[in-house]
Amino acid sequence: MEPQTQQPPVQGEPFLGFFRGDVHSELADYRERRPVTPLRLPDGRTGWLLTRHDDVRRALADPRLVKDGLLSPLGFRPQLPPDIYAATAQNMLTVDPPDHTRLRRLVQGAFTARRIARLTPAITAVADQLIDELDTPGPHDLVSKFAFPLPITVISELLGVPAGDRDSFMESASIIAAGAHRSRELPGAMIGMIGYIRDLVAAKRRQPGDDLISALISERDSGDQLTEDELVSTVYLLLLAGYDTTANLIGNGAWLLLDDPTRWSAVRADPDQMSQVVEEVLRYESPVQLGTHRMTTEDVTYGGQTIPAGSTVLLSILAAHRDPGQYTEPEAFDTARERSPHLAFGHGIHHCLGAPLARLEAQVAFTRLVSRLPELRLVEGFAPRWRASALMHGLDELLVTTS
Ligand code: HEM
Repeated sequence: MEPQTQQPPVQGEPFLGFFRGDVHSELADYRERRPVTPLRLPDGRTGWLLTRHDDVRRALADPRLVKDGLLSPLGFRPQLPPDIYAATAQNMLTVDPPDHTRLRRLVQGAFTARRIARLTPAITAVADQLIDELDTPGPHDLVSKFAFPLPITVISELLGVPAGDRDSFMESASIIAAGAHRSRELPGAMIGMIGYIRDLVAAKRRQPGDDLISALISERDSGDQLTEDELVSTVYLLLLAGYDTTANLIGNGAWLLLDDPTRWSAVRADPDQMSQVVEEVLRYESPVQLGTHRMTTEDVTYGGQTIPAGSTVLLSILAAHRDPGQYTEPEAFDTARERSPHLAFGHGIHHCLGAPLARLEAQVAFTRLVSRLPELRLVEGFAPRWRASALMHGLDELLVTTS
């Protein structure tokens, strides 16, 4: 590998993270010319952007790169009362071992592929109910009417969130998922969400159910496995981690299938290929753009470039997935790829806990759409617009019709 010339760390170009227009070509430019590059974050820190597959994969599993709490990769830290901060920032996604190991172990049994497979009938019922609403000529927005409500309904059922409460927290969840883009509303939404979760935990303490929140409460109350803040924070993470992400997977995948009618008819004719379709969607239009970030605990070297201790490292999963060094013809959407291991769910100890659930939800969503609405197509002249987001990669809307 050609070593890059050493650059002074704080001289990066300004970085707002709002990729607009052709995200892929912007990221390709970084990957080809500046695969390890310092960018000036809005708060004055330097964020080192990694875009090559090998670098992103290695960084995800590098123990010298650690989590830094709720600090956003763009340097945006919501102003929160200390008790709210404590109740959001103490979950497996925001901490390092040994706390990470303990917190993850408490819930991982509920997310194994075997346990998740049992949810197939329930997920199918949710998908079918939403499809009933789409079964008119339209036009309909598949993103807001299908891709978003599906995962939030499924995770709510798994956690035991009463059906009547879901609408009220969906708005808060959208604000939290938008992050820096709705920064003024963010503290209020987070305070509201934590308040809601605390009330829900109190209600389930009085009257436990057969759900994941009740199971966590019983862990908490029967030993010293987790603190009350960790319990609330874990519920907060589980409610939010699979919301925007899975919605983007369903929205991006539906768009890819509808954009080329031969793909739509191919999956209709052979639904058995659905899991390969989902894997290729995860690679090709990965729901997560920048994905995630870490902080260096010591000087590290990537691509011949020294990244100093204490730096923020930004990892672009979307860029890694179009790296010609890793994939043959990365710009082709090809569901017949022999092997396309991707990083859509991360890698290493923080590898997505919900991956089996997300995969199943997407498989069921696409299977039910092609079988129940075979005539579905994009409205005339539809052109995809990607949501302005530093972190996520999803469509603003997906306008479809059956007429
Ligand atoms: C972690 C992506 C769906 C729960 C992660 C990470 C990624 C990711 C990239 C690693 C973050 C890092 O290393 O910092 C996705 C995508 C999804 C999805 C693309 C949908 C297509 C879900 C769902 C859940 C979930 C449905 C369900 C609850 C989690 C949790 C973690 C995580 C709890 C933290 C794991 C840990 O820190 O040990 N996800 N996710 N995700 N995801 Fe997902």
